[in-house]
Amino acid sequence: MKRHFRVWRGDSSGGDLEDFDVEVNDGEVVLDIIHRLQATQVPDLACRWNCKAGKCGSCSMEINGMPRLGCMTRMSTFTADETITVTPLRTFPVIRDLVTDVSFNYEKARQTPAFAPPAGVAPGQYRMQQVDVERSQEFRKCIECYLCQNTCHVVRDHEENKEAFSGPRFFIRAAELDMHPLDARTDRKQHAQQSQGLGYCNITKCCTEVCPEHIKITDNAIIPMKERVVDRRYDPLVRLGRKIFRR
Ligand code: SF4
Ligand code: F3S
Ligand code: FES
Repeated sequence: MKRHFRVWRGDSSGGDLEDFDVEVNDGEVVLDIIHRLQATQVPDLACRWNCKAGKCGSCSMEINGMPRLGCMTRMSTFTADETITVTPLRTFPVIRDLVTDVSFNYEKARQTPAFAPPAGVAPGQYRMQQVDVERSQEFRKCIECYLCQNTCHVVRDHEENKEAFSGPRFFIRAAELDMHPLDARTDRKQHAQQSQGLGYCNITKCCTEVCPEHIKITDNAIIPMKERVVDRRYDPLVRLGRKIFRR
């Protein structure tokens, strides 16, 4: 059966949607159709992908306005007469067609202090309880597709916030390390608040909605970290201690 596709084509200097009618078979996903377009009509259509199994995080794109993985979006999700519009991630600069420059995220990763166990504990001597392993297991499922980063309005609509805001992917990294019993050298909550822009997040939960790994980014990482930052700042005993210490 033939389906109608609109695919954004262009580069950093601009571009537009182009129309295609393309063959679709049962069981196919959007990425299959992009590959068929490359094979039959537009051999130079640029698209990033790798695993085709929802695990490498490369094929992030916007499909009918929703940030999604092309390889995990089944064609059967759409009605038979629906036009499928495929555009690049909006938050990051376009390189060409569906490929964007996601180096913003690598920069934020570099700014995140690495896991650092207590001095004197060498690799091979790390020991932690199974319960501690399981607590942050959810956050380790992240495939770094950056759909959450692309969706968060703090940077999606405000280029000027990119400097100060690390984004939801790096809040879950902070939460993961905050729960790690051997990550002793950085106060992750303080760092998230002071250097990663945790305060910019107003808990809209859009990041959670688009995560293909179904990580509860807002409920399990962001909100608990915000609560702990607030507890520390407004706890009456901590405030009293601070006053005495200052004197
Ligand atoms: Fe992708 Fe989810 Fe990781 Fe964000 S948290 S980068 S949406 S897998
Ligand atoms: Fe952005 Fe997620 Fe917070 S979408 S505003 S980081 S809840
Ligand atoms: Fe790897 Fe889609 S191609 S997640």
